[in-house]
Amino acid sequence: MEFTALLLHLLPVILLAIFSPSAAFVPTDNYLLNCGSTSNATLDNRVFAADSAFLAADRSTPLANKNPPPSSPELYATARVFTSASGYKLNIRQNGTHLVRLHFSPFPSPNFNLSAAKFTLLLNGNSVLRDFSTEALVIKEYVFGIDGEELEIVLRPAGGGSNFGFVNAIEVFSAPKDLIIDRGARIVSPNAIGEFDGMSSRILETIHRINVGGSKVTPFNDTLWRTWVPDEGFLVLKPAAKKVVSTHPPNYQPGGATRETAPDHVYMTAQSMNRGNAILGAKFNISWNFPVGSSGVQHLVRLHFCDIVSTGLNLLYFNVYLNDLEAYKDMDLSSLTFHELGSPMYVDFVADSDDLGKMRVSVGPSDLSTSTHVNAILNGVEIMKMVNLAASGSVSSEKKKRRTWIIVGSILGGGFGLLLLAGLMVLLACRCRKKKQMKNPRSRRTESSAWTTLRGVQGSSRSRMTELTITGSPAGNGYHNLRIPFAEVQSATNNFDKNLIIGMGGFGMVYKGVLKDANIKVAVKRGVPGHRQGLPEFQTEITVLSRIRHRHLVSLVGYCEEQSEMILVYEYMENGPLKSHLYGQGQATLTWKQRLEICIGAARGIHYLHTGFIPGIIHRDIKSTNILLDENHEAKVADFGLSRAGPCLDETHVSTGVKGSFGYLDPEYFRRQQLTDKSDVYSFGVVMLEVLCARPAIDPLLAREQVNLAEWALQWKQSGRLDQIIDPKLRGQIKHRSLEKFVETAEKCLAEYGVDRPSMGDVLWNLEYALQVQESGSLREDSSANGDPVMVVVGNGDRSEENCSSEASTALVFSQLVTNEGR
Ligand SMILES: *[C@@H]1O[C@H](CO)[C@@H](O)[C@H](O)[C@H]1NC(C)=O
Ligand SMILES: *[C@@H]1O[C@H](CO)[C@@H](O)[C@H](O)[C@H]1NC(C)=O
Ligand SMILES: *[C@@H]1O[C@H](CO)[C@@H](O)[C@H](O)[C@H]1NC(C)=O
Ligand SMILES: *[C@@H]1O[C@H](CO)[C@@H](O)[C@H](O)[C@H]1NC(C)=O
Ligand SMILES: *[C@@H]1O[C@H](CO)[C@@H](O)[C@H](O)[C@H]1NC(C)=O
Repeated sequence: MEFTALLLHLLPVILLAIFSPSAAFVPTDNYLLNCGSTSNATLDNRVFAADSAFLAADRSTPLANKNPPPSSPELYATARVFTSASGYKLNIRQNGTHLVRLHFSPFPSPNFNLSAAKFTLLLNGNSVLRDFSTEALVIKEYVFGIDGEELEIVLRPAGGGSNFGFVNAIEVFSAPKDLIIDRGARIVSPNAIGEFDGMSSRILETIHRINVGGSKVTPFNDTLWRTWVPDEGFLVLKPAAKKVVSTHPPNYQPGGATRETAPDHVYMTAQSMNRGNAILGAKFNISWNFPVGSSGVQHLVRLHFCDIVSTGLNLLYFNVYLNDLEAYKDMDLSSLTFHELGSPMYVDFVADSDDLGKMRVSVGPSDLSTSTHVNAILNGVEIMKMVNLAASGSVSSEKKKRRTWIIVGSILGGGFGLLLLAGLMVLLACRCRKKKQMKNPRSRRTESSAWTTLRGVQGSSRSRMTELTITGSPAGNGYHNLRIPFAEVQSATNNFDKNLIIGMGGFGMVYKGVLKDANIKVAVKRGVPGHRQGLPEFQTEITVLSRIRHRHLVSLVGYCEEQSEMILVYEYMENGPLKSHLYGQGQATLTWKQRLEICIGAARGIHYLHTGFIPGIIHRDIKSTNILLDENHEAKVADFGLSRAGPCLDETHVSTGVKGSFGYLDPEYFRRQQLTDKSDVYSFGVVMLEVLCARPAIDPLLAREQVNLAEWALQWKQSGRLDQIIDPKLRGQIKHRSLEKFVETAEKCLAEYGVDRPSMGDVLWNLEYALQVQESGSLREDSSANGDPVMVVVGNGDRSEENCSSEASTALVFSQLVTNEGR
């Protein structure tokens, strides 16, 4: 398990080392059928074998072309004809996404005029191609999530007795696990926002696959044997675009795109703005029109990017539009690719084709770009039509819908985070509102009246969210009790005395203060007056924190929203962020025991967020600056909803949330844009390594292979050199078994895929074990593998499903463990 996780983590590195495209991916299921033939035929280095063993019934006719054109591949010299509905049955060994390709290449034959064939194609009963006929070679590709043991391919002749179907060749193979993600594609539509859910139950038909700025890529040069065609024919205004070609192979990174996502050739070429063109002016879009054949139909549009134009980081900002709707604003590839240039990534969108049956893709400069770096790029496009309706009542999608997550914080900052948040809030609020209105139709009005000054802010989606957020909160909750008059905040902070500033963030300044009435120390976070930018986060924080009280979560003392001010008042944490105790200056060194206790405290806080109530809460910005220590060095998790603005207390770089969270971002979240509680688990794993090694998650000053703590530590762990990177101040202090458990847990938190990561409850349990072993002399130092069988629990996502596992039950299990061990 461990080794696999590690291997997966390192896979891209290994792939880079091998640098052999075709060696990279071996599908579990792999059927290549040479239809109507009894011998093998080879195409693009692949052997297609005789098809007869896979026929569903013996009601078909093999055909051979007596005079095949010399240039035509041998594979297309035979075909199989079906005069009644019939076809093939293939055993499927691996559930999940499969690629299904059918090759149709009609040829003359005495009994059947293949050009006149007309038939419907069904995949496991779903009709994906209706009344199809062709007079020239056509290859149809379907991306199909199979979750049974069989794939049935049926060709059903169209009505009118004499009809028949035919096929020359079939490919069916399992796709890499992440090729299609179930949730996370951004919906681009005037009527809807949020993420698309249930992609893996859709059958997708590939309509276009484009190598933008490059030449044709044949199946020979693609690990999934795809064909990528050049984009020029689709450019709306050719002079607007300028080709760019990189001479370096793409810098594939964990969490980004892989060679299976798209081949090197796609990421090494792009179109960029042809800024030399005087007629076009300084700012313009590059647009492509892709005919898709049907109007108003949902498509998955996957856009591939790789910054091969910039000379430095964070210089390129551009917008993406689909059918003239804003799809992605201010895209910053540097931030999205963990601060690397030339690093491939992709974004999935779901959009409808327009009335003319087109999909128009545009990229253009963002307002954030400086005048010398105005540019926009695109490396690749895939457009896939959704050919079936969602499978209704499918178990997996229902399971997912049952849990609605409140999403707090905003690592990616801006647009997407807010969209996501808004979408979920709307969903959540609708539910609660229904219930509440039945019970007490007046409660809603009363509550929202307290917010009149906050409503009616720019943008309809925001103001709608404002209202819904509030109505979505539990009735009878004491928001009002938490209001603090502005005068009191002024007095608490000596009228925002500069000398009391203890931190700053995009949201504004953080002051230390004392509430005179209660005589309690507080931290006061003040939004830039008059700026309404952080409004949704501000409200989220209040909504969330007013509902939560936990020993390991920083509590909200109150808030103030008078005179266009947005102020949040928190309990003051005497010892500041964990980070400054690990590698800050002038702080006493934390002992191993203290470090374990801090980790346990933080883990408890996060565990409570995840499981303490329904819906669970994903923090989204777990890092050592967001774990604060009180006067007793007890850890509390902070910053729920202002991560973009957060109290980056001692942080020097404050501009965006992404920067603040580098090195902590779950690669799967980044890749799938699908948020789960396991993203927090990943970030927590990074914090654990920080605690152990006493260095930042990202240290750009170090040698390249050491910059990213998670990667570096796992590599050293693997090569058995872990003791060399442990904080020297801990030397000789840590008991072997305690260290082992700690590292093993951190490693599991950092698993490439969320499902392989432990739940926060499991993490907590393991940390307590590590502390117990450290503390207790009675436990064996070197327990053999079968000596502690109870511990082999981590590593399965299932536990989070039954999320009722509260701290109490965790503690129970733990005490059982202790008794077992003590025997
Ligand atoms: C066809 O190819 C398969 C697998 O590549 C091979 O095992 C088989 O021997 C070949 N058959 C013939 C007739 O060449
Ligand atoms: C075969 O069918 C096509 C399409 O219907 C037709 O154009 C063509 O003339 C036919 N060829 C023969 C030899 O009948
Ligand atoms: C695939 O999914 C089907 C139906 O969900 C299930 O019965 C089967 O056991 C699964 N097979 C594998 C190998 O997971
Ligand atoms: C594969 O890519 C290489 C390198 O670009 C190129 O030289 C070769 O012609 C390509 N082969 C095919 C079959 O496309
Ligand atoms: C790019 O296209 C979008 C959508 O049509 C449009 O709103 C925007 O103004 C265009 N940008 C430029 C610079 O022309």
